[in-house]
Amino acid sequence: MTGDRVFDTPFTRLTGVRHPVMQTGMGWVAGPRLVTAVAEAGGLGVLASATMTLPELAAAVRAVKERTDAPFGVNLRADAGDAADRVDLLVREGVRVASFALAPDRGLIDRLKDAGVVVIPSVGARRHAEKVAAWGADAVLVQGGEGGGHTGQVATTLLLPQIVDAVDVPVVAAGGFFDGRGLAAALAYGAAGVAMGTRFLLTADSSVPDAVKRVYLEASQTVVTRRVDGMPHRVLRSGLVDGLERSGRWSGLVRAVRSAAAFRRISGLTWRRIIADGRAMRRGRELSWAQVLMAANTPMLLRAAMVDGRPDLGVMASGQAVAVIDDLPTCADLIAGIVADAAKAIAAQHAALLR
Ligand SMILES: Cc1cc2nc3c(=O)[nH]c(=O)nc-3n(C[C@H](O)[C@H](O)[C@H](O)COP(=O)(O)O)c2cc1C
Repeated sequence: MTGDRVFDTPFTRLTGVRHPVMQTGMGWVAGPRLVTAVAEAGGLGVLASATMTLPELAAAVRAVKERTDAPFGVNLRADAGDAADRVDLLVREGVRVASFALAPDRGLIDRLKDAGVVVIPSVGARRHAEKVAAWGADAVLVQGGEGGGHTGQVATTLLLPQIVDAVDVPVVAAGGFFDGRGLAAALAYGAAGVAMGTRFLLTADSSVPDAVKRVYLEASQTVVTRRVDGMPHRVLRSGLVDGLERSGRWSGLVRAVRSAAAFRRISGLTWRRIIADGRAMRRGRELSWAQVLMAANTPMLLRAAMVDGRPDLGVMASGQAVAVIDDLPTCADLIAGIVADAAKAIAAQHAALLR
């Protein structure tokens, strides 16, 4: 393990990691290799489980535990048909943190908390933060609109202070962070740490194929599209995304059915399971079946780029930070640099204060 402890925040105390830096759960990207590298570097690495079957998740958890004794987390989809089984797995394996892409229900939070697992749901609006905090979430991850993947419209600079003021639990800031100044700024807003996706995707330790990393390094433009799975999704602008944006309703649906069928073949999931997941996804939301099918699309489209190395065939989720990232550091260098630069930035501001 590397890097001296520089900050002691409610986030480091809650999760037991050395630095207030979290690597978020990114489908197909945040596997055992990246998570172990982050954990060993003193950050909180989080396995992405939405794109794993239950046995794959079990194997990934064991793989991380074999490689590091440091704490780590698992990102769960609260609306997955087998969410309760996944929660049981985390409890059995003694995983330190459960993060959630969408707010989990109270039952899941209770089950995890009873077992001592730290619960950190992602939120994109103040009322969601208030709701999950009232249900007992230990901290919230606030993602502003700059962030990659599913994202909202409100910028981190506006969302973060609102939520810091609204809840008593520690707040982790996400969306647009990539360096030490960002960590210093997040702490100044009252956050307890930062979480980053795009920055960790672009490290030497991430398993994303080199050809795809090169596309990200050269890219400067992201777009928010609903054409991937019906929800606003920030991705790299590409020919494929422009095509999806232009395609009509029916050709979009045909594309969705085709991709869902291909995903079923690769994932080994049954149609019954896909439809059960789709039903769960629709519950409480205004999603049509066409949108649910499009949602089944997403894992396939992300996989084509992130695993198969085909940026031409896949969708590449990305935050706006991609425009200012031009290197592939190791996670150890990245995290050590971020905390050292954040400390320097804070000291420089302090020195500039008129007394
Ligand atoms: C390639 C990629 C895949 C992602 N997949 C997921 C996911 O499966 N679940 C999730 O909760 N968030 C996912 N996200 C969102 C990130 O976890 C994170 O909240 C976001 O990247 C933070 O913004 P940043 O990219 O500006 O750091 C993904 C983001 C990216 C870039």
